[in-house]
Amino acid sequence: MSTKPIGIFDSGIGGTSIFKEIHALLPHENCIYLADSKNAPYGNKSKTKILELSIKNTELLLNKNCKLIVVACNTATTNAIQQLRSTYDVPFIGIEPAIKPAALNTQTRAVGILATKGTLSSELFHKTTDLYSNGIKVIEQVGEGIVPLIEAGETDSDAMKALLETYISPMLQADIDYLVLGCTHYPYLIPQLLTLLPKHVKIIDSGLAVAKQTKAILEQNNLLNLSTNSPNIHFFSNGNIDVLKHILDDKFNVRMLDF
Ligand code: DGL
Repeated sequence: MSTKPIGIFDSGIGGTSIFKEIHALLPHENCIYLADSKNAPYGNKSKTKILELSIKNTELLLNKNCKLIVVACNTATTNAIQQLRSTYDVPFIGIEPAIKPAALNTQTRAVGILATKGTLSSELFHKTTDLYSNGIKVIEQVGEGIVPLIEAGETDSDAMKALLETYISPMLQADIDYLVLGCTHYPYLIPQLLTLLPKHVKIIDSGLAVAKQTKAILEQNNLLNLSTNSPNIHFFSNGNIDVLKHILDDKFNVRMLDF
């Protein structure tokens, strides 16, 4: 058993969608969340830069004594998690676009995936897609411009609606029945997406799966926090903390940190 915190990082506020699932499943775990909003978006950066930023975030979380790191970012997972795992001693949990359940369940044999350029161009994403997409049309779409709007607090603006319509319409033309959200910022767009998608199109987001995997790995490593005290949860952002505060419960401690 360990009372040390779980460390979570993302290029910004998107990974809070993962934090919320982890906190719901493991309500007594202490957590430290880093929002590297200053460097968002990661999605257009080179693999080398994404790795460098992921190392910086990991080392900061390890200096804060974290027992396990959740890379709450598809872009950082698909570009950096292998190197992180081979460099540091703690367990790492990552998130990748959930192509598998979409490919296994599609009736129309067409699935859409919305993710960053960094994720869609990564080797890991291609390996997973090749493994499961046999005979299925996978319509990949880079969500260019979405993350900066979310980081600016614009989940519901006209600009966002226009972008989503542009990105979703070729998928609907291809008759998808599953839309995979391949970026942890995107679950904040589910209400807008539901207005654009016909009823039979299901949205897949892997937040709950990541939380379950976090719990399983903590158990396997004897790292679960067995205390029933209320947890210490801290959010640090190197960007605009108001946007982060806006999407979190007031009870959480959100602070500015230059990292
Ligand atoms: N939330 C991220 C992801 O899951 C990063 C998006 C970005 O910074 O471009 O990919």
